[in-house]
Amino acid sequence: MFNRIKSPFNPLRINIPFLLDIIIVSDPEQIRTIETSGDVDRLHTFDTASLPWWVKFYFRATKFHDDKRDLWFCPFESTSNPTYKPRRAYLEEKVATSYSKEDVKRIAQLLKTNATDEVLAHEMVQVVNQRFFGKEIPLDITKAAKCPLQSLGEAIFPWKYIRGRKAQQQIMDYCEQNLSKDVHILDIGHNIGEVVQATAGGLRRLKDNLEQPIEEIFTTHALTLQAPRIVVNSSKLGGLLLFPTTRGKTVVIHKIAKAAAKTKNIYFTFGTGSSERACVFKDFFLAFMNDLQQELKDA
Ligand code: HEM
Repeated sequence: MFNRIKSPFNPLRINIPFLLDIIIVSDPEQIRTIETSGDVDRLHTFDTASLPWWVKFYFRATKFHDDKRDLWFCPFESTSNPTYKPRRAYLEEKVATSYSKEDVKRIAQLLKTNATDEVLAHEMVQVVNQRFFGKEIPLDITKAAKCPLQSLGEAIFPWKYIRGRKAQQQIMDYCEQNLSKDVHILDIGHNIGEVVQATAGGLRRLKDNLEQPIEEIFTTHALTLQAPRIVVNSSKLGGLLLFPTTRGKTVVIHKIAKAAAKTKNIYFTFGTGSSERACVFKDFFLAFMNDLQQELKDA
């Protein structure tokens, strides 16, 4: 059953007729209920051309979408999409090759010597992403990976928007030229961006909290703020809304970082609160951070 409405702002709905319809949900139970309702699915359930204008505008300047080649990152594909399972399986297999003790020592050394964010991010990209390329990823690519947009608010600044789009295309061109033809290049390109934009900040957070359990650190300060979904059935989401959603137009934004902080459930840091369709990188990340914490403590 859906929860009863708790306040007019929970969930928060921003509806401007014919322009946009966005529902923002941060209550963990409501997120779970909406996720399992069958009323929402992943954005690319619909052809890119038919998605709301602001979705197309915003996402083409992020690491999640390549509008030139019409590619979307794996979590944006419906489970029913035939490419979804093999793409996830490929990433799982690659991530399972894990990391070495030397990787942990190298990153610990950089943290101890207060290396810059740029150096830290570049090294961390090698730890995670070299496995896909079989060689070092160049500095101009790891530098560019900082620029794709990370929030809708940034899209209103033309210089940030243009820089984000340019950087995204630079990374995708690099992936196209350096990965084998059977690999989904956006699934890999995204991971360079994710490591630069999320993991490097996570490393600093770890260094400042050497005595705190890893799951507590990264639920209190989750690295992904939100996860979008699109409505596939017109409904009032079981009574949460005053008027119904529109199929293919209403977008739900799950505020997963807030849900992680409230519940201390690590599955909100790496998904929407359950193991179903959780991030492929979760176990690698937690194990790496545990080892790194130990290494920094021993020092
Ligand atoms: C610390 C860095 C990362 C964080 C915080 C993170 C977080 C997340 C979150 C919150 C989701 C769920 C998205 C949704 O439900 O819409 C997700 C999904 C996913 N992530 Fe990550 N991620 C990280 C790094 C990575 C890396 C490096 C890879 C690949 C090597 C990766 C691969 C995936 C994949 C394939 C999915 C989709 C899983 C599915 O839908 O079955 N992630 N990630």
